[in-house]
Amino acid sequence: MGFGRGFDSRIPTQTLIDLTNGMLLRYDRNVKVKLSDLKPFASDPKAVDEILKTGDHVVYEYYENVVEGGFIYGVTIIYPGLIGEEYNFTRGHYHLRGDADEIYIGIKGKGLLLMQDKRGDFYSYPIERGYIVYIPGEYAHRTVNIGEEPLIFLYIYPANAGHDYESIKMKGFKKVILRRDGKPILVDNPRYRE
Ligand code: PA5
Ligand code: NI
Repeated sequence: MGFGRGFDSRIPTQTLIDLTNGMLLRYDRNVKVKLSDLKPFASDPKAVDEILKTGDHVVYEYYENVVEGGFIYGVTIIYPGLIGEEYNFTRGHYHLRGDADEIYIGIKGKGLLLMQDKRGDFYSYPIERGYIVYIPGEYAHRTVNIGEEPLIFLYIYPANAGHDYESIKMKGFKKVILRRDGKPILVDNPRYRE
């Protein structure tokens, strides 16, 4: 059946998702991203250092199937929490191929999906159970958990998309989501470079 080294894109395949916790019955890889990995992406790197004094932890993880010649699809789980005033977020990336679009489908929790292109266009859309967002290939995308439970969403994109994390590391996202008076607000990123 082609299990073990990824599904074969020319053979119909199937798996199951547990909608209560996002777990896939079968996946090719699991990537865990820790607070220390996020330091170059955080709006307040000093806050990262402060938390790291007491230890590192997983901020989010994803489980995915890689169908070479087809799609990569999987589930991201962002745990609730703050990095200084900033809600837990994913690194965010551009796809190397501008024609590699992506779809996100919210499963559980409460989040915001930030998107920006290289001309400076910026969008912020909610991502929650039932919400479907279409991300054009030219838009960098980052997801933020603004709730108190894990944010879980499905994603699907072409396996040949490629990832550019460096541009985000160097320039940042235009806007960040901070917690003020117990509520999320969208503010300009003090570390953003045009
Ligand atoms: O393909 C996507 O856009 C998602 O699966 C992300 O990769 C995932 O949410 C993790 O984010 P990042 O790759 O920016 O660390
Ligand atoms: Ni992507």
